[in-house]
Amino acid sequence: MITAKTKIAGIEFDSYIFNASGIKDGTLEELEEIGKSESSAIMLKSCTIEPRKGNEKPREINLPFGYFQSEGLPNLGYRKYLEFIPKLKQYKKPIIASVVGFSLEEYRVLVKTFQESEVDLIEVNLSCPNIVEEGLPIVYNFEKIKELLDKISNLGEKPIGLKLPAYLCYVLQEKMADLIKQYNVPFIASINSVGNALIIDPGKETTLIKPQKGFGGLSGGYIKPIALGNVRRFYELLKDKVSIMGVGGIKTGQDAFEFLLAGADAVQVGTTFEREGVNCFQRINKELEEILEKKGYSSISDIRGRLKYL
Ligand code: SIN
Repeated sequence: MITAKTKIAGIEFDSYIFNASGIKDGTLEELEEIGKSESSAIMLKSCTIEPRKGNEKPREINLPFGYFQSEGLPNLGYRKYLEFIPKLKQYKKPIIASVVGFSLEEYRVLVKTFQESEVDLIEVNLSCPNIVEEGLPIVYNFEKIKELLDKISNLGEKPIGLKLPAYLCYVLQEKMADLIKQYNVPFIASINSVGNALIIDPGKETTLIKPQKGFGGLSGGYIKPIALGNVRRFYELLKDKVSIMGVGGIKTGQDAFEFLLAGADAVQVGTTFEREGVNCFQRINKELEEILEKKGYSSISDIRGRLKYL
């Protein structure tokens, strides 16, 4: 029997599947449920310096092929998540903090603080699509990202990674990959929900969510091909030097297998976790292991990135 173990930035994960930040991971109870489940890691909700209530409701909706939301980063503030970490250590799996700053200094404080905590990895979320910033958002401003990496790269020993948006243009993705290489960023999560999306109710002639005149981020099956494309491009650009967490539309073991072929070292599950609850991790993992076994592969590394071309 195959066990689809994997490694992210040198840290062992018992399986290829864990939760994506932002779904049912904002409170201690929710995080403990993830701890008890077969999610191979506990990914914390993206947190900010101060607690946030998030955007006005209704702010999310389930759609036939995915999820649409403008949550606006509701979270308890980083101090609360720091308090949770010792309690989450009992589950003996990697704990991943996820942080969002509203300035470079806030990012620095958040990364430094989690560097001094007992988390195993730190995801620096650059790509929340639902925060309106003045000027160009950091994720599209390579000079600012460079400044950020200068500030946060040497604050401690724990691997820090970047949660990135969907790149719809190869040149921009190549530029991002150059920065990742230049700063030896050990892991990335690709992709965040796709922003600037609008869903309309034609009957009522209204938007479906209230914040930002109905604009929000799209996830789930709708974005899977974009996520696969981004993971593949990063795999080609970064070779084996950077671990890649694939995110976007992983519902079945077959989806996870496609991300594996594209080059992901692990996948995060969001929309399906939202719908199915914690059992999804075990189910997807079992389905993936069955596919690997049927195809005669004995490990993740046998097939990672081995997509064939026509
Ligand atoms: C949100 O809270 O608005 C979404 C968070 C994210 O996509 O990073």
